[in-house]
Amino acid sequence: MALSNSSSLSLEEVAGAAPGAGLWFQLHPPRDEELGASIVRRAQKAGYRAIVVTVDSWTRGWRPADLDLGYDPFLRGQGMGTFLADPLFTASLPQDMAVGSQPWLAAAGARWREVFGHSGLRWDYFEQLGEITDLPILIKGIVHPDDAEEAIARGVSGVVVSNHGGRQLDRSVAALDALPAVVRQVAGRVPVLFDSGVRSGADVAIALGLGADAVLLGRPWLYGLAIDGAEGVRHVLRCVLAELELTMVMSGAATVGDLRHLVRPAPGRAGGH
Ligand SMILES: Cc1cc2nc3c(=O)[nH]c(=O)nc-3n(C[C@H](O)[C@H](O)[C@H](O)COP(=O)(O)O)c2cc1C
Repeated sequence: MALSNSSSLSLEEVAGAAPGAGLWFQLHPPRDEELGASIVRRAQKAGYRAIVVTVDSWTRGWRPADLDLGYDPFLRGQGMGTFLADPLFTASLPQDMAVGSQPWLAAAGARWREVFGHSGLRWDYFEQLGEITDLPILIKGIVHPDDAEEAIARGVSGVVVSNHGGRQLDRSVAALDALPAVVRQVAGRVPVLFDSGVRSGADVAIALGLGADAVLLGRPWLYGLAIDGAEGVRHVLRCVLAELELTMVMSGAATVGDLRHLVRPAPGRAGGH
């Protein structure tokens, strides 16, 4: 599981609740790079096994449904668990307010808006990050082969082809259409992971067949969580895996690797850039 840096609970609390789990930590690099370094060091200390740096959402997209509903958890002091537990972050808040009080949370939300989203991120950020942590670093939000090439040149350990589930930039390229060209460019030098739009085992088979080494699920498990908590998440994952197996059986794939011989991009959608 890759834990978002925008979580209700801190990264330490999540790691403490899941001993032995293969946890990764996802970072939106904050504008304050010292704060980013502090969070990454904490993630390594807490036992996370990789840092996933998201590069496609330094601000939030135009989301009419969120606007209609006035949905912004951060304004209510939610989704900042990791920030509220960070000594550098809390040191930047007014010191004359009771910690955890509504005014303190409002000040934290305002500070969070100041630091969230590093619009000036440069490629050398990844080399610097490599000096801060020994953990493998992945870049999430790659949809162009040139960016995948540059990522490898900067020493990253993997790329995640993703358009953020299509919820950031309307009319962006479909992540699946972008996948084949990135896979061709990377040519096995680092793992290529994929997300955005995976809803079923058949979807997993298609992404693996087009060359992804692994897929990630964004929303499906959240739906399971909303309906039935942890059991709902288990159910979603079981269904996806069961359908993947059936899809493989019915298409004659003995191994996941065989899917690569069985799937080809639809004409005109081979990710030509
Ligand atoms: C409610 C919600 C919150 C998300 N928050 C983050 C986030 O904090 N960091 C991130 O890298 N991606 C975030 N994403 C994007 C997902 O990580 C993922 O790229 C996307 O949802 C994949 O598409 P899918 O939902 O179609 O599977 C979020 C997605 C949703 C639905």
